[in-house]
Amino acid sequence: MIELDSAFFADPFRHYRAWSEHGSVHRVRFPGGKAGWVVTGYAEARAALAEPRLRKSGANARWAGVEATASTHMLDADPPDHTRLRKLVNQAFTPRAVEALRPRVEEITAELLDDLAGHAEADLLERFAVPLPVTVIGELLGVAAEERAEFRRRTAGFGSGSAEPAQIHHLKAFLVELVRRKRAHPAGDMLSDLVRARDEQEQLSERELVATAFLLLFAGYETTVNLIGNGMYALLRNPDQLDALRADLSLVPAAVEELLRFDGPVGFATLRYAGEPLELGGVRIEAGEFVHVALGAANRDPARFPDADRLDVGRRPAGHVAFGHGIHHCVGAPLARLEAQIAFSRLLTRFPRMRLAEADLAWHEGIRFRGLTTLPVRPNE
Ligand code: HEM
Repeated sequence: MIELDSAFFADPFRHYRAWSEHGSVHRVRFPGGKAGWVVTGYAEARAALAEPRLRKSGANARWAGVEATASTHMLDADPPDHTRLRKLVNQAFTPRAVEALRPRVEEITAELLDDLAGHAEADLLERFAVPLPVTVIGELLGVAAEERAEFRRRTAGFGSGSAEPAQIHHLKAFLVELVRRKRAHPAGDMLSDLVRARDEQEQLSERELVATAFLLLFAGYETTVNLIGNGMYALLRNPDQLDALRADLSLVPAAVEELLRFDGPVGFATLRYAGEPLELGGVRIEAGEFVHVALGAANRDPARFPDADRLDVGRRPAGHVAFGHGIHHCVGAPLARLEAQIAFSRLLTRFPRMRLAEADLAWHEGIRFRGLTTLPVRPNE
């Protein structure tokens, strides 16, 4: 049994390398005492993510030790509920629908970078990587700026898995109120569409509606932030790659894929449990046992990506699993890609001499997301 402690979070990749000498699927005890299987091999990760015997419905409730209730949103559901809930939002995230958001994403980016330029030193997360995706998803869903700020306050700590029952209770109350306000004042946004799907066609329950609002806001907030943050940090620490990218901005889309592979935002946020016994990577998993897929480990598997620990913006890492795989593959991936491509292009052209203000930075200690606590930079040097 591997004991996971806080040393892990500072450099998970070193730990994955050591674990992989003993196989691709490992028994791990997490901080707090719970145990589960962790999949680190690329082939095994793909197999696990596409494995119907590994279930999602009620997985988070089981992990938290509370009674498993019915699924609430698509990421916590199996077919047919998953299929029904995902269909309701699919259209909003097709590459075509997302492309229509480009001018607005460019505009928000330019405003934030104007503000950044006025600072000799700034936290790139707080000044840029957070407000960009938060504004974009907020506008898409129809959540006003003050509501977005409140949502963020109410979900502080969720990424590291440290939510208190009282905090969850208050968050639920906030979301119920958000849906009530939307119902009273519908508009042309996604949340209004979901309310209509509920009220006019009964395509989802009230509880599923509230949970879907939460999932979209939360997924849109915590992940893209860390793609921009982890990605910029990786580039600033690898100046040859940063220079290569700046010299040829047509590489940016490929570089975003490489940054997702190299140090993507999702750690173990892929909780599943075995609905029946199965074998994976040579180990037997019993019914009811938990399985986490470590996407970051799979994306550094040398059997799939040669010289996997090296950042190479020209690599084109087809098949990386930073957005997951199978039926739960990230529905927001086209939006995340658009935001990140614009963010990196504009950051690199506008601040060609940007550098880190501190060398050693701290990472959040949480199994769900992988992100820095702050990213202090000197933008204009
Ligand atoms: C699912 C990653 C951005 C919405 C997922 C999954 C991953 C992921 C790994 C699958 C988890 C699993 O199988 O257990 C990311 C990354 C992002 C990102 C790395 C940014 C770089 C977004 C955005 C949205 C979004 C911007 C939109 C609001 C969702 C939803 C699901 C999902 C709704 C559930 C899909 C389903 O269960 O069918 N994401 N995501 N994500 N993501 Fe994202």
